Amino acid sequence: MSDTVYLNGDYLPLADAKVSVLDRGFLFGDGVYEVIPAYAGRLFRLNDHISRLNNSLRGIRIELEKSAEDWEAIFRPLLDGSKDQYIYLQITRGAAAKRDHGFPEQVVPTVFVMSADIKPFPGRDTGIKALTLEDTRWQLCNVKAITLLANLLLRQEALDQDCAEAILVRNGYVTEGAASNVFVVIDGDLITPPRNNEILPGITRDVILELAEANQIPCREDVIALEALQNASEIWVTSSTREILPVVEVDGNAVGSGKPGPLFRNVDQLLQAYKQSLA
Ligand SMILES: Cc1ncc(COP(=O)(O)O)c(C=O)c1O
Repeated sequence: MSDTVYLNGDYLPLADAKVSVLDRGFLFGDGVYEVIPAYAGRLFRLNDHISRLNNSLRGIRIELEKSAEDWEAIFRPLLDGSKDQYIYLQITRGAAAKRDHGFPEQVVPTVFVMSADIKPFPGRDTGIKALTLEDTRWQLCNVKAITLLANLLLRQEALDQDCAEAILVRNGYVTEGAASNVFVVIDGDLITPPRNNEILPGITRDVILELAEANQIPCREDVIALEALQNASEIWVTSSTREILPVVEVDGNAVGSGKPGPLFRNVDQLLQAYKQSLA
């Protein structure tokens, strides 16, 4: 984590950043967040992240709209151009005078920002193991809410079984990972579940779809039945901080050859080249 953080208009040492115990983020998990990569100080797809943030804010009825430029000005002092980092931005409804489920009438949202280094994820080159689990989350998964208890329990269940990610299944169909989107390769086609309220519209997911389309890689948004996942020749999980992680084992069974697949290598190269092109 960065030594300096931003809290409600001030930059201060992490140890001095304090919020009220009446903050609704603390009491209810009443808030939303964003995680935005910054490669060598350059914010990646900032407009997309801010547009998703605004959708999340509207989704939980917090009125706080700033332009991408305003946000960038807040983030800038927390970025170090010599390394790859991510910005963590959290907005809660704020601290009310008393604990009450109903929204307080006069409350000022709490805005917190910190940065942290992005380190290459250990399983990237060899691939990771994943576990399928019933998606026990709520119906507003398109909102990037700080209320992540279900995601945490699911991720921990995967970790307890020596897997790096849980792949979630609702009514027999794959939704997404505990903290990632899911792609599969079936008969050479790249497939990811469609955007709806059951998944977070991942920015990495969008970039991959764009790159696949621009490079004539057959791809589509479509439902993925659990059985189709189990028979896929490749499975990937994608997110801003881990980028594309190939899954080489799911529920104890090898995926395809049991090694990161050829389409992963191809699209990962395209992603790295795309990142470079923005530098
Ligand atoms: C539940 C969930 N889905 C998908 C993603 C991937 O989104 P992005 O690519 O924007 O990081 C995340 C990221 O943390 C997530 O928590």
